[in-house]
Amino acid sequence: MKFFIDTANLAQIKEANDLGVLDGVTTNPSLMAKEGIKGDAQIKQHYVDICNIVDGDVSAEVIAVDYDTIITEGLALAALHKNIVVKVPMIKDGIKAIKYFSNKGIRTNCTLVFSAGQALLAAKAGATYVSPFLGRLDDVSTDGLKLIEDIRIIYDNYGYETQILAASIRHPMHIIECAKIGADVATCPLQPIMQLLNHPLTTSGLETFLADYKKVNG
Ligand code: E4P
Repeated sequence: MKFFIDTANLAQIKEANDLGVLDGVTTNPSLMAKEGIKGDAQIKQHYVDICNIVDGDVSAEVIAVDYDTIITEGLALAALHKNIVVKVPMIKDGIKAIKYFSNKGIRTNCTLVFSAGQALLAAKAGATYVSPFLGRLDDVSTDGLKLIEDIRIIYDNYGYETQILAASIRHPMHIIECAKIGADVATCPLQPIMQLLNHPLTTSGLETFLADYKKVNG
């Protein structure tokens, strides 16, 4: 399973990348705004800065919601760096744009996916990634993991190559369950990735090993 980090914070991206297990980055307009990144030039430069840190796919989201402007924005984003994946919302013009980008060999991430039907459309349009938001479904008392399972079954039934990018991940168990289901990618904030490191028996076991070593070696 690939690990992407879901942030526009350069320090956190560096920290995850330094761990040596990072395969890419996802961002969205809210995450960019959180870092105070604003204006076309600054936003584009930030994507390039991210690409210069991580050697992997970096999702850059269009703001437009009409076909022509999605295409214009997407082409400009894709031209920034070879690792940019154009992130397009799951709307009618978005699906048409994903088909256009797919025909041109430009990679896409279909975002804001909350149903299996939406994921099926994204795959048929040729999306490289589909992003089901499992945490936001859990937030409204709907089983987000069940959606990931359903998409896995549908894609496997027909051999769709669209990769399931499990998004809106909130905690380590989301990552584990997504791995069991067979999601291709998990995109997570830094904290759940780092929480995977922790187990109290690892901590206490290491303390004992080091104390025993010290007893005989001084
Ligand atoms: C994915 O691409 C989105 O940026 C993200 O996972 C949304 O997560 P949130 O629901 O925690 O905002």
